[in-house]
Amino acid sequence: MTAPAQETFPPPPELARSAAEAGEHAERAAADRLGFWGDRARELLTWETGFEEVLDWSAAPFARWYTGGRLNACVNAVDRHVAAGLGDRVAFHWVGEPGDTRTITYSQLHEQVQRAAGALEALGVQPGDRVAIYLPMVSEAIVAMLACARVGAPHSVVFSGFSAEALRTRIEDAGARVVITADGAFRRGAAAPLKPAVDAALAAGAPSVEHVLVVRRTEGEVAWTEGRDVWWHDALEAAPATHEAQAFDAEHPLFILYTSGTTGKPKGILHTTGGYLTQAAHTHRTVFDLHPETDVYWCGADVGWVTGHTYIVYGPLLNAATSVVYEGTPNTPHEGRWWEIVQQYGVSILYTAPTTVRTFMKWGEQVPARYDLSSLRLLGSVGEPINPEAWRWYRRNIGGDRTPVVDTWWQTETGGIMISPLPGVTTLKPGSAQTPLPGISAEVVDDEGAVLAADGAETTGYLVLTEPWPGMLRGIWGDEQRYRDTYWSRFPGRYFAGDGARRDADGDIWLLGRVDDVMNVSGHRISTTEVESALVSHPAVAEAAVVGAADETTGQGIVAFVILRGGAGEGGGAGDVADLPQALRQHVATQISPIAKPRSVLVVDELPKTRSGKIMRRLLRDVAEDRAVGDVTTLADATVMGRISAGLRAAPGED
Ligand code: WT7
Repeated sequence: MTAPAQETFPPPPELARSAAEAGEHAERAAADRLGFWGDRARELLTWETGFEEVLDWSAAPFARWYTGGRLNACVNAVDRHVAAGLGDRVAFHWVGEPGDTRTITYSQLHEQVQRAAGALEALGVQPGDRVAIYLPMVSEAIVAMLACARVGAPHSVVFSGFSAEALRTRIEDAGARVVITADGAFRRGAAAPLKPAVDAALAAGAPSVEHVLVVRRTEGEVAWTEGRDVWWHDALEAAPATHEAQAFDAEHPLFILYTSGTTGKPKGILHTTGGYLTQAAHTHRTVFDLHPETDVYWCGADVGWVTGHTYIVYGPLLNAATSVVYEGTPNTPHEGRWWEIVQQYGVSILYTAPTTVRTFMKWGEQVPARYDLSSLRLLGSVGEPINPEAWRWYRRNIGGDRTPVVDTWWQTETGGIMISPLPGVTTLKPGSAQTPLPGISAEVVDDEGAVLAADGAETTGYLVLTEPWPGMLRGIWGDEQRYRDTYWSRFPGRYFAGDGARRDADGDIWLLGRVDDVMNVSGHRISTTEVESALVSHPAVAEAAVVGAADETTGQGIVAFVILRGGAGEGGGAGDVADLPQALRQHVATQISPIAKPRSVLVVDELPKTRSGKIMRRLLRDVAEDRAVGDVTTLADATVMGRISAGLRAAPGED
């Protein structure tokens, strides 16, 4: 049987400006890569002091970009646009889940960030101090991030869906001096309290925290610690309306963002100012063909993830774009909520995750068909590989069969988009992120690190980045060795992304998912070890192994295999064995977050292990995905898999 011919979509001719710009960038970057990045930094940002050198790689793998340069991130995102006469332009059309809306112009944003910066300084925040932000998708989350940047205090945004315990470990690791939170959040049609999680985290120990700033959102009752807790609105009202911003070094830390690695301890990914902002602004403009005067842009992510940092906050604001921000879930109060918003605000560019697209597919094409989506002219995808079927559905039912769909590959660590089609020039292939952007160097290599050349034959291997890039992480907070080990030891001299990749006969790159013990659930990175640690912290569990199994909607679903402690289920507080899977799922939700909750928990007597004791997750994945179990010859006990499969057939254990 011959494979069907690859379906392709040529770039629409109306993207001529983008095409011209992309061609010019490719030429400049090919001739002088660092010169190109130097030019982009000067073209896109306003520097108080110009930089002397584009890249200092002498302390590799710790890069320094734009050395000697000084700038203020918040001034670049807000002040300079107001000074240029764009104060009346809308920065954000914010839409609350209950239906309340806020229109925030650049002038209004300017006043808010100045007051918030003053409020932080009044609480004693100084350049270099860390501030944790634990907020739902309210506009104050954006203001808080910008205010931190303005005073030079790196922010650490913690997704508001994380538990008190997950919040506490992140506050502690960063040594945050202030936490910014809200009384509660509106989600799925109801108000849910949020501040109690902060109170619980601080009660359990996070001694670095001096103050908690509390945004009023739901107006629910909150417990109050006098002297520590301060209302956000009081603090902003008391602060002066203007705030003079100082410039910081290009390498001044801008933020820390925690992400899952292959151990139970999340990694604090560190980003600095000049390089990150350059890549954020550059990619936001070129990948989305942004015309800030006319476009209405919407990124459906949460500020708790890197996509929210780069493509809700920094990228769009640096480019003086107008964005939509939506607080809630896509099916509240009905499944057409997103399309209603697109129609109402005339959204022209939409950026979301494959898992969301597949959820919309499940709800049916009749839902978007009820709305006028003709304002849309470009769609983007991020977070995990997008299957060609979802890609085509997205283009057909949301993009009216006309819009390009750009599949953008990047990571928390890369800071911004690295591999993506350029909508004005690339002939699109559904399911492929296609080519590294101009100025970005990526290769697919084999086990030994040899480059698999694009010589007309298809090859499969690992994705590596072969040259430093402006938005790259500058390390892992407080753990230099882990930074070297995780990213730079597998293929010395090159950055190992942790993803498998295929290069097709045209040289286009297709991402194949993680090759390490990291799962991708709805575009969220969750490590198998993190969930396993949460499971074994339950009194009934002796041992646990967790795998990511293919899931039609979420990409992967978490399947846990647990061995119970002797006596579990026979009283002693652990409850009934039949209720255990449900109890354990809940336990993981409280330990980490509901997003880490296993789809199913299977009770087994033994786990498949190698002679050296390493759990063979590959075999458990076969069971979880309902396949014939693969090669068991390296198991210490070759009969284990037979017993697990037989046991599960007898008592499926799913809940
Ligand atoms: C991991 C990074 C990038 C912001 C959101 C996730 C996977 C991301 C794609 C894509 C295939 C993708 C990779 C990557 N990933 N985008 N377009 N195609 N896989 O950021 O949480 O740091 O996760 O997400 O596995 O390594 P993150």
